[in-house]
Amino acid sequence: MGQIPEMMRAVVAEGSGGPDVLKVVQRPVPNPKEGEILVRVKAAGVNRPDVIQRQGGYPPPPGAPDILGLEIAGEVAATGPNAARFAVGAPVMALVPGGGYADYAVVHESNALPIPPGLSFEEAGAIPETYFTVWTNVFDRGRLQSGETLLVHGGTSGIGTTAIQLAKAFGATVIATAGSQDKCDACLRLGADAAINYRTQDFVTATKEATGGRGADVILDMVGGDYISRNYEAAAQDGRIVQIAFLQGPKAEVDFRRLMVKRLTHTGSTLRPRSPAEKADIAEALEEKVWPLLAQGRCRPVMDSTFAFEDVAKAHARMDGGEHIGKIVLVIDKI
Ligand SMILES: NC(=O)c1ccc[n+]([C@@H]2O[C@H](COP(=O)([O-])OP(=O)(O)OC[C@H]3O[C@@H](n4cnc5c(N)ncnc54)[C@H](OP(=O)(O)O)[C@@H]3O)[C@@H](O)[C@H]2O)c1
Repeated sequence: MGQIPEMMRAVVAEGSGGPDVLKVVQRPVPNPKEGEILVRVKAAGVNRPDVIQRQGGYPPPPGAPDILGLEIAGEVAATGPNAARFAVGAPVMALVPGGGYADYAVVHESNALPIPPGLSFEEAGAIPETYFTVWTNVFDRGRLQSGETLLVHGGTSGIGTTAIQLAKAFGATVIATAGSQDKCDACLRLGADAAINYRTQDFVTATKEATGGRGADVILDMVGGDYISRNYEAAAQDGRIVQIAFLQGPKAEVDFRRLMVKRLTHTGSTLRPRSPAEKADIAEALEEKVWPLLAQGRCRPVMDSTFAFEDVAKAHARMDGGEHIGKIVLVIDKI
């Protein structure tokens, strides 16, 4: 394992703005406290919330470091008091409330998971943020059942590619929306039953057509804006709409009669501010229900690109450009 140094490299946003505000700085290596592990990070996923944080719109919750990064994979470098789940040297991936873009990160051991066989550190580092988010929103809050239809907006996003694979693996029919033909093709290759190019097709009409007029049982939405009203139209009777972001804005004029008449449930959640105990519950469900699928290769993170640690600004520029399909990952150490 080698000695743990006192200082490490870490990425922070100096001010807010474009990718050039990201700076690699020196910070003290954090100490694992009660129940925590220190992970020597090998790969860290880049997520849209990191971009929003860089732009000044998503400050870290109280107690979280200002270092960017919500998910990591690496090896356990040290364990804190009463952390007994993983041995030093064990390969793990983890959901962190911040601090992922660094040589070392601390996390409560219950928010870390073993890396299933056959997955690289880069792939493992691309898993926690989207798998935790999709599980808690599509399966917990949205209560998606086998035989139902999921409509997922942003089908080629990190979140979308995960939602398509998991919903298919659990027996749902999946309709995805995306902003180009290439992205629609990628959704179909991932297993989506139908893909709607929202720039050329009305997703409400296309969803109705794809479901014989019924509509979607669950809708995972990160767009907001006028999608809120259109989701109500695209939803089936007793449909559940789960809001995870508002890329097109949080305000809308909505005819709420549809909510009442169709008996819709409109809910939403954010993952980052939840307590380690709540995240541990999600981790437990994932380990039981989804980790066997990862081990069998029945789902896998879709890797768009990897960037060296010092090229973090390029990684963010790639996400800003919006051309990516799947996950962008920072390689923190030579793998
Ligand atoms: N609530 C939570 O707990 C939680 C957790 C994680 C992520 N999120 C949210 O989930 C979303 C996806 O995250 P991600 O990391 O998977 O991001 P991502 O890969 O960058 O995906 C964003 C997707 O949104 C689509 N999109 C639609 N309208 C857009 C707009 N106005 N601006 C930018 N993109 C737009 C893009 O697809 P097209 O090119 O097809 O339009 C793109 O695929 C983000 O909004 C993020 O904040 C929420």
